[in-house]
This record gives sequence, C-alpha cells and structure tokens, in this order.
Amino acid sequence: MAHRNTDIIPTVDGLAYGGDYNPEQWPREVWDEDIRLMHEAGVNLVSVNIFAWAGINPGPGRWDFEQLDAVMDLLAEGGIKADLATSTASPPPWFSQAHPETLPVNAEGLTLNSGARAEYCPNSPVFQEAVVEMASRLAERYANHPALAMWHVGNEYYRSCHCDDTAAAFRTWLQERHGDLDGLNHAWGTTFWSQTYSDWSQVLPPRICAETPNPGLVLDYRRFSSDALLNLFRSEAAAIEAHSPDKPITTNLMVTGNFSGLDYHRWGEHVTGPNRLVATDHYLIPEHDDDIPWPAQAAFGADASRGLAGGSPWLLMEQSSNSSAWRRGYFAKKPGDQLRHSLSYVARGSEGAMYFQWRASRYGAERYHSAMVPHGGTDSKVFREVKQFGAWLKTLAEIKGSTVASRAAVLLDFNSVWAANTPGQPSADMDTYPELRRWHAALWRRGVTTDLANPAWDLSGYEYVFAPHLYLLDDDAHLRAYVEGGGTLVVGPYSGIVDGNEHVHPGLPGALGDLMGVRVEEFVPIAEGAKAALDDGTEGRTWSEVAHAVDAEVVASFKDYPGTPAVFRRKVGRGEVWYLATRPADVDQFLARLGVVPDFPETAEHLELVRRTHADGRSYVFAINHGEEPAKVPVTGKNLLTGGLWTAARSLEPGDCAVIRET
Ligand code: GLA
Ligand code: GLA
Repeated sequence: MAHRNTDIIPTVDGLAYGGDYNPEQWPREVWDEDIRLMHEAGVNLVSVNIFAWAGINPGPGRWDFEQLDAVMDLLAEGGIKADLATSTASPPPWFSQAHPETLPVNAEGLTLNSGARAEYCPNSPVFQEAVVEMASRLAERYANHPALAMWHVGNEYYRSCHCDDTAAAFRTWLQERHGDLDGLNHAWGTTFWSQTYSDWSQVLPPRICAETPNPGLVLDYRRFSSDALLNLFRSEAAAIEAHSPDKPITTNLMVTGNFSGLDYHRWGEHVTGPNRLVATDHYLIPEHDDDIPWPAQAAFGADASRGLAGGSPWLLMEQSSNSSAWRRGYFAKKPGDQLRHSLSYVARGSEGAMYFQWRASRYGAERYHSAMVPHGGTDSKVFREVKQFGAWLKTLAEIKGSTVASRAAVLLDFNSVWAANTPGQPSADMDTYPELRRWHAALWRRGVTTDLANPAWDLSGYEYVFAPHLYLLDDDAHLRAYVEGGGTLVVGPYSGIVDGNEHVHPGLPGALGDLMGVRVEEFVPIAEGAKAALDDGTEGRTWSEVAHAVDAEVVASFKDYPGTPAVFRRKVGRGEVWYLATRPADVDQFLARLGVVPDFPETAEHLELVRRTHADGRSYVFAINHGEEPAKVPVTGKNLLTGGLWTAARSLEPGDCAVIRET
C-alpha cells in the first residue's frame, strides 16, 4: 500500500490553482497579460514545457533554453510557481526523421508517423536515451530556479508498440515473469491450438494474426506495456532526482471515463511517498453519452485518484472549464457547474484544481478545447467562475494536508479488468470498469463516500466492500479475512473465475465458491437491453447463471429460466458475504436492501457531503447542493466560503456550495 504523504507540494502556498500554460504559442505581449490575469484569477501554479521539445532541442545536439528561461523568470517575478514538464511526450519531427526506429508500430504492422503527438515506442533504446538526456539537462538547469515547485514527467503515458524493439523487451519481461520457456508455455496454455514455443525468438507481441489470439499473451502484453511506461517514467524521474533531489516529481495519470490502460496500482510506490505525488487528469463524458450524471462522474474521478494516492492528498492536474475537443461534439457546462465540480475534487482530497489549459489556443488540434481564458474573452461565464473559484481556494488554504476517510470501497484490480476483456469471453457485455463506475455512482447517490481500492490492500477499515466484477482472483484468503473480521462483502457475478494466468479455476465460481457457499453450474448471459425478473420484484441484466446454494441463504431467485437462486447471503465469522448471480438492473435497490445509510444520516439525495480531516482532528464538511430544492446541512461551524457561521438548522440553496470548519 502507498506511503502516506500529506505535504505533496510544499512550496505552493495554500491550495494549487492554475493549468497547462503554453506561452510558446503566443507573442511576448500576451505573456504580460497572462500574468496580470493569473493574478486576477488567483492562479499560483502553472504547468509549463509540456509540449516544447521542438523549441528547446530544435535539432541533433542543439539546445536552446532562452525562451524557457524567460518564462521561468517571468513566473518567478510574478510569484507564480512552475510545474515544470520534461516535454518528452511529443518528440519533434526532426527526431523521428533522424531515428525512424523510434516511431510506434501498431498491431497491423503499420508505422505511425509524426504529425500528431506521442509518436514514440516506449521500448526503443534510442528514445529511452533521449528522454533521459532531456530530463537530465532540464533538471540540471532549473533545479534551483525560484519558480520551480515540482517536476512533471512526460504527459498522460499510454503509448504501446508492436515493433521489433518491443518484441525483444517483451521477451525479457516474460523471462523475468515466467522463468523459462516451459513456464511461459504453461502460463499461456500453448498446448491449445499447437502454440508451443521452442525458442524465445518465436515469441511476439500480439500482432495481427489469423484468428482469436492467445488470451494469456494478450493479458501479459498489457502488463508488460504498463511496466514499459512505468520504466520510462522511472528513468526520467531518476535523472531528475540526481540534480533536483528536493522537489516533488509526478506525471499526470488518467482517470477519465473508462480509461484503465495502465496498472496504476503497480505505479503506486513510484508516484507516492517522499517527493512524489499522484496527479490525475479527469474529463467528464457528456451526459448524453453516459448513464452517469456529471457530479457523480466528478466524484468517481476524485475517488479513483484518492485510491491511487493510497488515501494521501493528490492533485487534480487537468480538467476542462467547458468542452474538451476530443468528444463527439462540443458541450457547454451550465452556470455554476465548473465551481461545483472543482469543489467536489477538492472535497475528495485534491490539493487544488488545475485545468487544461490556461488560455485557449488559436491553432492546433485542440483550438476548440475550453480553457480558463476562453476565446470568448474574460467577460464570460467561464472566466468569472475561474476567478470565483480562485477566491474560494484562497479561503480554503487551511485544509491543505487533510484527508478523507471512506466507509465503503469498490474493488478495482487492473489485471482483472484486462483479463475480463481478453478475447473469447462468454459475453461481450461483461466489461468491468463501467460496472465499477455504475456501483460507485449508486453509492454516491446514497451519500456514501467510496474508495476505489485494490483487493490486496488492507480492507479492514471498511464497513462495506463491493466487488461488482472481480473476474481474476488467485485465492480468497484476503477477502475471507476481511469478512471473518466483521466486514460485509458483496460479490457480483462472474467473479473469482480465473487465476493470474487467466486459467479457469476448477469448479465454479472458482476462487470464491467456498467463501460464498455457492456452486455455479453454468453461465446464462442476458442479451443487451433485456432484463431478468427476480421473485423479489427486482431485475437483473447482462448476466445470469444456474447457481445453487451449498451453504448460503437464498434471498431471491430468477422467476423464469434458469429459475435458480439469484441472490445469496452467508454469515462468515463476524461478517457476511453476499453473492449476486446477476448484475442488478438498479443497484440502488440492492443497496437499500443491504441497509446502506448515507455518511450523514437523513440528508437530501442531491446534497453531496464529504468530510476532510487533519491528523490533529480539525475537520471540514464540504457541501454541494446538486438538487433543485434547498437542503439541510446538519453541521455547525464557520462557512469558509462566506466567513459566516453555519448552524445545523440551515439549508443550502440549490446549486450552492459551503465548506464548513466544524466546531
Ligand atoms: C471449429 C474448429 C474447432 C473449434 C470449433 C469451435 O469447428 O474446427 O477447432 O474451434 O470450431 O466451435
Ligand atoms: C489530455 C492531455 C492534454 C490535452 C487534454 C485535452 O489530458 O494531457 O494535453 O490534450 O487531454 O482534454
């Protein structure tokens, strides 16, 4: 589990506020206006040099730091801190031309050319050497610059590759994981379809092939690709640390939408702990494209980030003031949305709020992406709210370093998410990540602050642990201990089915059958859009199965085929475990049956309430009214946003926010 660190950006006064700042896109006159407007908005931290490789290293062996020096000096004079990036997320065209072997190759064998960004193979030794040189030069030059607050390595790591360098690195990784070829052949079950390898040189990344690829290969390649990017990050971080040992280092992880491409729990110790911090990017999915409303989406992004930080404070590194440029169609936020969303991230542990980006670009792929200073200018809803939020953050400075405690956890294991997506599954609709988001949203609606936790972490502090879909699980030991110790575990269908190699456990439901006292005979997936009626009046969707109680109480059964039990419950030790043989169509109905009450009893459904607490006991309740009616906030203290007193009898108006220092 991650190391607790409550002072993640020591040199920034109070909470952080700002965004990606790309002055290289603007003439010098605009820079002065930027600084003036940043002061007006309360900005105290900006991310610079994210995509500036072409400027500082314009050709082989050529280095030019004049412009970056000027930007850093300007920020220092203006009293604004820099989150200084290493610019390695986008090698310029000269680099790709000089080193074509560094370009990424997709599964079809096509080379991706320069012309966008992230055109690199993480496994290319030439690229690896180049990014370490870049990080090292920047760290040497700026380690003691007065503007420097922290380092930002790369940007949103996600690239994978299928080239020959990748094949070589993949083999080395597999040798470490599986030992010899016998180990590999066993793990991938290569006796199926005569796939047995007799020499390492035959082993390839999952390039396009004739039919369904080997699922073990597909799963290991995802693990390897995540590790390859982690190694890239670590190599830059080490180069920085050699020159700049006292400043925090981070990279912006993605918790947006259903992104689950990297095993961020394995990144854990490298992005938490002394001089490290978890920074995340979270973008909302337009509500017309998602079942989850924006406030619940924001809460998920924040709760997922807090999980990656192991409960420590973290930093929202990017969000949008309005639309992003990469969604289908433009969307605008309603008045006040920006304030409510930003405050929700802070309530849930972010040490501030940052945006992509400070000023909307006039050109380039993201010219229509929203910004803190929009194309529409400063006389705008967006900029007025940007200023308002900056003023709020100043009043909240004293919350810096406080943390959030949750009563519930939803289990997230990236390996399991990937394994459930390997080819040849019994249902194409049994995705994991969207299901975790759906459960989280239902808990959010009930007023329960919920962590996203890895199943292997210490779960003993949680009243409820939900495993809506934990397909891959080696054994039940850890979850059994949680239940025996008094916890309530809820397991969704098609869980515990395979081991770490994605081999089906003998007997269903595999690793969890004994603990749950349930035997599954066969799977009966439900077609998309269809529902299965249960005899307690609720409905299931996506999945059903022929399941039997071996040593469990039957709570509800399917009305029609298969007609067998659908909801089971079993007391184990001081706790209990529930098993659902279908995905509840309405998760809230199940939570109601379970008797889950809100963190703050008897509060309105659309009132978001979250508490942050300092180690010395000082505590703050964040209240956000997302509803259409006034809502009672049952706490007493001082509302830091207005400076006024708050009494338990008071109501919060629709759309309003309060942060109450409790007395
Ligand atoms: C074909 C193939 C078999 C098997 C089955 C599965 O018949 O010959 O090897 O893949 O399909 O339905
Ligand atoms: C990501 C990237 C940014 C920008 C934004 C736009 O988060 O890190 O460079 O492209 O998306 O939403």
